[in-house]
Formats: sequence, structure tokens, C-alpha cells
Amino acid sequence: MINKEPDPTFLSLNAIQAIMQSPRYIINLAALRHNLELLRDLKQEASCHIVLALKGFALWKCFPLISEYLDGCCASGLWEAKLSHDKMGLHTLTYSPAYKDSELKDLLEISHHLDFNSPSQWLRYRETVTSHPRFQSGKLKCGIRINPEHSTGSTPIYDPCASGSRLGTTAEQLKHLDLNGITGFHFHTLCEQYTHDLASTLEAIDDKFGDYLRHPEITWLNMGGGHWITKPDYDRAHLIELIKATQQRYQLQEIWLEPGEAIAIHSGVLEANVVDIVHNAGHQIAILDVSATCHMPVSTCGLPVTGLEVGGEPYFGAAVSLERMCCRALSRSEGIFAAASVGSDCEILSRELGSAISIG
Ligand SMILES: Cc1ncc(COP(=O)(O)O)c(C=O)c1O
Repeated sequence: MINKEPDPTFLSLNAIQAIMQSPRYIINLAALRHNLELLRDLKQEASCHIVLALKGFALWKCFPLISEYLDGCCASGLWEAKLSHDKMGLHTLTYSPAYKDSELKDLLEISHHLDFNSPSQWLRYRETVTSHPRFQSGKLKCGIRINPEHSTGSTPIYDPCASGSRLGTTAEQLKHLDLNGITGFHFHTLCEQYTHDLASTLEAIDDKFGDYLRHPEITWLNMGGGHWITKPDYDRAHLIELIKATQQRYQLQEIWLEPGEAIAIHSGVLEANVVDIVHNAGHQIAILDVSATCHMPVSTCGLPVTGLEVGGEPYFGAAVSLERMCCRALSRSEGIFAAASVGSDCEILSRELGSAISIG
């Protein structure tokens, strides 16, 4: 008798084709788990909380794994807060440069921290928030994002402390603000940085905001993201020291960190195909089936890429422009790998973008 049941050990042709389709993200779960283990150990040693910044990594199929180790997500608006709530189900720390009336109702239902960027936003929504049952029962806490005006990074577009920044309330602006209802402060000033930058930021914060932080009403501090915690050369012992010292300095109940990149770094690839190569005015232009706006971190968008190099050498013997693709945020997210099958010989490139593909 012929067994018509499909053999479960073999994938059908359709299934194989579906798996082989690009573009796709391929996540190495062991590598992701390795990062998460480092973060969990740090959390335990420093007695702090760590959440995943969704703007850095939002592949929600990985959330069951992440939720074994971390405390939830940091959301930069309503849709990320919904993703956190629906797919992670732990803490949701929401911060946006501004909220709209239409978003607030839902945010009040699903956020655990709601951080306000400016005095005007806080004053606009204070009454609504503080009268909400979740605020009154202590499930929802409100914070202010502070701007210590202390720049430590080397890339101005990523510097929230740059002159003219829209991000955070300065000490001068805070002087006149009624903080009744605010129980915590939030700062985010780092980007791919090490502990000495955090240390100098904490000193600037003490200078400008230390008196507020010593106030018994302020019980938590969110130190934002940008901590390169899982990089091999990151001084995690120093971070633990800084967290403990800050907690003691202000007698805080909770310290939160919200890294994005540190969670997913070195844990996956974005695979794309070169669909065509066109030539114009001496340029070779590779048309890829990925786009910066759809598949890559937000900071990729709008930044020009003029050349592709593989392993430090120009690819195809000459620079190739990548249309619909830009490496800026890819080189920022060093852990993301690129895989591109090229032309008829289907050569696979699978290298760390940070070192293998650079902007010409
Ligand atoms: C408020 C806030 N928190 C956290 C992050 C995550 O930063 P990173 O992925 O550099 O750790 C960002 C990134 O821009 C941010 O703006």
C-alpha cells in the first residue's frame, strides 16, 4: 500500500522555496540568547531592570525568548507600545517627543511608565493621567525626560544634547515646573557608547538635576539606551558600579536601562538578493530587493550610499551603488549580517556589515 501522508521529516518544495525567499532576517537564536544572558547577569548583579528598545529590534517572533531574560520593552509611541503589550506582555515604558490626544487613552491602558518630553506636554496631560485608575493604583508611573546638555557622542545627528535639540527638558525649564505626579526621570544621551561616557553624563546630571533626584518623590531613574553592553570590550563591571552608586546616591527604588542594539547585536543577518545591476555614467548600480525604509533601522533612511565594499575591497572590481539600500544604520548595527546572492553564480555574501560593507 502506498502511504500518501507526506513524510514530516522532508520539507515540501513549496516550503523550501518559501524559506529561501528574500528579503529575510535570519536570527541566530544561540547568539541572541548569549546577549540576553549577559544582560540578565548584569541585571541581577546591579539590581536594575532592563527592557528592549523596540526601535532597535522589533522581531516579535523572538519575544518569547527575550521575555525569559528581560523586563519588557521601551516604546517610542502608541504602535510600539501595542506591540510590547500584545507580544511581550511585560513592562511597557513609553516615551515619545510628543503625544496626541487620540493616542493618550490607549497609552494609559497599556503603559507602565509614561515619560513626557517637555513641560508643556506634562502640563497638558497631567490632569488626565493622574486621574486615571491605573495611575491611582500605582500601575502607571509618570516621568520627565531630562536633557543634561552634556554631549558625549561623536555623531551630531545622534546627539540629543546638541544645541537646539527637541529632546528632553533642560534644568532651566524644569525650575518652573510643577512636578506633582512625576515619580521618575528619564535620560537618553548615549549611542553606541562606553561607561566613561555614562559616568561623565551622570556627573552632569548630578550637577543639574541632583536636587530633584534626592527628593523622596523621585523613586526611579531610566538611563535610556546607547549602552554597548554586550560588546566584548564593554566594561560591564564598571556599569554595575555606576548603577549601584547612582541608586545609593539618590536612594532610588529602581534603575532602568533600555538598550536596543545591545540586545540584538551579532545575532542575525538581513538577507537580500541583487535583482539587477544597471550601468549609468560609469556607475554600476545594484538593485536589491530590500529597502531602507522597509527593512532597516530608521536611521538608515535618507542617508546616501555611494559604494559597496566587501572585506575592505571594492566589490565587482569597482564600487557598486546600492539603490533602495543604504548601509548607514547597518554599519551602526554592526551585528547585522548581509547576505546577498549575486547574479547567476549565486555567490553568498555573509559577513558583518560593520566590517564587510562600508560606505564609499
Ligand atoms: C529614548 C531611547 N531609548 C532607547 C534607545 C535605544 O538605543 P540603542 O539602540 O542605541 O541602545 C533609543 C534609540 O534611539 C532612544 O531614542
